[in-house]
Amino acid sequence: MGQPVFTLQPPDTWCIHPQFQPLRGVIAIPGDKSISHRALMLGALATGTTHIRGLLIGEDTCSTAACFQALGARISELNSDSVQVDGIGLGALQEPEDVLNAGNSGTTLRLILGVLAAQSQGFFAITGDRSLRSRPMGRVVTPLQQMGALIWGRKGASRAPLAIQGQSLRPIHYHSPIASAQVKSSILLAGLQSEGATTITEPFLSRDHSERMLAAFGAAIATNPETCSVTVTGPSQLQGQDVSVPGDISSAAFWLVAASILPDSELLLTNVGVNPTRTGILEVLLAMGADIHQENVRVVTGEPVADLRVRSASLTSTDIQGEIIPRLIDEIPILAVAATAAQGITRIRDAAELRVKESDRLAAVAQQLTKMGASITEYADGLDITGGSQLQGTELDSYGDHRMAMGLAIAALSAQGTSYIGQGNAAAVSYPTFIHTLQTLVGE
Ligand code: S3P
Repeated sequence: MGQPVFTLQPPDTWCIHPQFQPLRGVIAIPGDKSISHRALMLGALATGTTHIRGLLIGEDTCSTAACFQALGARISELNSDSVQVDGIGLGALQEPEDVLNAGNSGTTLRLILGVLAAQSQGFFAITGDRSLRSRPMGRVVTPLQQMGALIWGRKGASRAPLAIQGQSLRPIHYHSPIASAQVKSSILLAGLQSEGATTITEPFLSRDHSERMLAAFGAAIATNPETCSVTVTGPSQLQGQDVSVPGDISSAAFWLVAASILPDSELLLTNVGVNPTRTGILEVLLAMGADIHQENVRVVTGEPVADLRVRSASLTSTDIQGEIIPRLIDEIPILAVAATAAQGITRIRDAAELRVKESDRLAAVAQQLTKMGASITEYADGLDITGGSQLQGTELDSYGDHRMAMGLAIAALSAQGTSYIGQGNAAAVSYPTFIHTLQTLVGE
């Protein structure tokens, strides 16, 4: 058994000792965050009942559920076994008495803007936590305004709090300058409620969960992956469905890297979503020499799913840039940890989007891993990470960013000496049971 991993006072600081023992076992990965948001939203906008199995119970999905409850949807108590959503139907949302709160969740705020802007009546106000209030909303507000939306807010309606006067909107063909599933999904949700064909084209294909789920709920939607375009023809009523949410590959990513870099480890990660718009992490780790196999591959509610077996391996550096970036955008912090253990220089480019995530993840990764002794050069759109030297445990901070907290925890397992990770509980945004699973794995 390795030394214990435990949390300590203040309760939000994780104290993590290095692991000299392999990680072995089976981990059931909690529900995919992106798919969970969409299941709640489409369930609320549909007519009839939606049953959701495997919903992620995290702070972000609770924010989405609370917003749609305030808009009139009946959502049963959230648990990962089964959640029932009694939909309101398109165009029938209630005007809430109070300000909606998206918490830390960019997906909640950006997608709901498309929903609310196209409500033919009603006035809505929405805000979020400090991190979310600092994140750019113009990328969604601008195309919605081109559709005729009335949206007000700070900094020219580019920062929350935002206010929306629901309007009937006109369809557009929007060429997005960035590959963003949040932008794409927001426009699709507005287009769904508008008369005619709304198309969005993006520079590279971003995650396509909205397209898959909208089709399953009966929307008139057509995709063209070659041109990275999708068209929804509205108004298109949705019908409630049964949805099984696969495990989140972005959560599995922490264990994929942990087992890869801790000698003699072997983990089986069950029920992981392996949608090709999300599997950039697997492609990169395999290119680095990782030992990962997909088993029991199947399709569940229109999404490919597999069990992932990972064994430790010696990693070598790689280059990460271009079209793969949107397919692993949330995994770059943990890939940076893998890069510190890989021989050679790993170069990450075209990743400026990381600066406007829950934290500035390029700066956060560079600062925190440098504190641990890693050799990192930060660029405007990426990082160079020279791997192969021993990390040292030290005082660290997650910047209140869930993926930073968990990424640093994995780095700490392979470090020499104890690490203290401030704001560790930020992990509850996407993976509330992360630290418990880690404790179980190391035999506590
Ligand atoms: C998400 C899309 C991505 C991702 C985020 C979830 C989604 O954001 O980083 O964690 O569920 O649509 P962008 O659309 O801003 O790239």
